[in-house]
Amino acid sequence: MGGRLMYWMDIAAALSASKHCNAPVVTASVDNISFEAPIKLGNVVHIEAKVTRAFNTSMEIHLNVWGEDLTHQYKYKSNEAYYTFVALDPNSNPRSVPQLIPETDDEKRLFDGALRRRQLRLILGGKMKPEDAQELKALFS
Ligand SMILES: CC(C)(COP(=O)(O)OP(=O)(O)OC[C@H]1O[C@@H](n2cnc3c(N)ncnc32)[C@H](O)[C@@H]1OP(=O)(O)O)[C@@H](O)C(=O)NCCC(=O)NCCS
Repeated sequence: MGGRLMYWMDIAAALSASKHCNAPVVTASVDNISFEAPIKLGNVVHIEAKVTRAFNTSMEIHLNVWGEDLTHQYKYKSNEAYYTFVALDPNSNPRSVPQLIPETDDEKRLFDGALRRRQLRLILGGKMKPEDAQELKALFS
């Protein structure tokens, strides 16, 4: 069931975010998830979660999910997604998080894209005016 996989992905992403900021976190949003390939019954599920960028109190997490057929010994991509988590202080208010420094080319690509993805999800969530999303607008001009 896709819902159970999303539940596991939420946990993996929460662990990744929480380890980065060393604080409890809550799921603020989940971007669209499309299932490329089903994970068959009895196959192993691999979930890799990485913080792509830290903002003020929020962090974007990128997840990659694979299935593994142990009998026939092959791994296949199932899906990927972006989650956003917010760090909380002891009073459950958002608290600032440490910045992330990307190192590899792949990390730099995800880091750069995170700003545009953040602007898009904040616009869709009614928390940002489209005219304020400079980096997103630049993509279309
Ligand atoms: C997520 C939550 C903490 C944000 O609190 P808030 O009072 O709206 O706080 P702010 O407006 O100051 O936003 C805090 C951060 O959340 C981010 N945020 C808010 N809504 C968001 C959304 N829809 N998508 C992505 N990020 C969002 C903001 O961009 C901000 O990040 P920043 O500090 O890095 O710029 C609050 O809405 C909440 O508790 N939601 C319920 C969470 C929940 O129950 N999750 C499921 C169970 S774990």
